[in-house]
Amino acid sequence: MLRFGILSTARIARDAVMPALQDAENCVVTAVASRDMAKARALADRFGAPHAFGSYDEMLASDTIDAVYIPLPTSQHVEWAIKAADAGKHVLVEKPLALKASEIEPLIAARDRNRVMVSEAFMVTYAPVWLKVRELLKEGAIGELKHVQGAFSYFNRDAANMRNIPELGGGALPDIGVYPTIATRFSTGSEPRRVQAVVRRDPDFGTDIYASVKADFGSFEMSFYVATQMANRQVMVFHGTEGYIEVKSPFNADRWGPEEIELSNQKHTVSQIFRFQDSRQYRRQAEAFARAVAGEEADVVTLENSVMNQRFIDAVYRAGQHDGWETV
Ligand SMILES: NC(=O)c1ccc[n+]([C@@H]2O[C@H](COP(=O)([O-])OP(=O)(O)OC[C@H]3O[C@@H](n4cnc5c(N)ncnc54)[C@H](OP(=O)(O)O)[C@@H]3O)[C@@H](O)[C@H]2O)c1
Repeated sequence: MLRFGILSTARIARDAVMPALQDAENCVVTAVASRDMAKARALADRFGAPHAFGSYDEMLASDTIDAVYIPLPTSQHVEWAIKAADAGKHVLVEKPLALKASEIEPLIAARDRNRVMVSEAFMVTYAPVWLKVRELLKEGAIGELKHVQGAFSYFNRDAANMRNIPELGGGALPDIGVYPTIATRFSTGSEPRRVQAVVRRDPDFGTDIYASVKADFGSFEMSFYVATQMANRQVMVFHGTEGYIEVKSPFNADRWGPEEIELSNQKHTVSQIFRFQDSRQYRRQAEAFARAVAGEEADVVTLENSVMNQRFIDAVYRAGQHDGWETV
């Protein structure tokens, strides 16, 4: 059993990742750390974790854990991932790992000098729905892929929320822009060459709240938008020469509705629907991470993969400052 310490009492830890770690067959939560000891104790008790710490550093120095899960505000991810690696702990760190691709380089060095596992928590890459999309594309179920279309949006104008605070790493692109990009790169195995973008910011918060992006992948094009002040929506469509794949609720299946793929191929008279129930992407993520730590075969998100995804987002920000293409 890989013993996890949870670094902070974040909502995502409480609602999704800690229950998943407890369900996982090879993980256990043994400690929680918070800037507030009472909050750490309360969350630890709720999940039956024996240890609580009133500071993040204390938990990192402790031998009650082998691995750390980091769901801090985005601007603190790299700093604490490096500290955890230097304390000899394996690190599962929330997305987006960084706010610029270049910030990931010192973390790669920390991973290598400490010989620990460090992985960005892109739960979608463990979800059966995305493994299925990847398989369908590989077997040519829609012919030659020509266009990927994506949308991800929600409405949140809460000034106290991390997503609307620049110093904490807020913004639509860091929070949700990273999902259409990782899902497309994961399922197609291709990398973008250049991008064009419109990026809009909130006049009060200063964070980006909307981005509309066109990306050139060579053999196909991708277009997507993300927004944090529009009604809830999430969808991804892969359109090829012989058909299309539509992924419904592609990112947060449990909260946004049933996880479903529609495959339409012109050789068939009706579409095929693939339904995925209870796909437990957070549990699969935890189990894959623990297998990788144990040296078993597991397809986890590498830091090198994270760099490529972040380069895509970096290029979108640059492209948002002018008309025309930016090289990724
Ligand atoms: N993979 C997913 O599905 C998913 C979903 C949601 C969020 N996320 C990611 O997870 C991370 C956390 O998101 P969240 O919504 O769960 O965050 P949150 O509820 O706001 O929690 C962040 C935690 O960080 C700690 N913290 C340390 N310094 C802080 C500061 N200056 N301001 C506020 N909190 C501070 C706090 O814990 P203590 O007070 O206990 O120290 C707080 O509970 C983000 O990077 C987000 O992108 C991922």
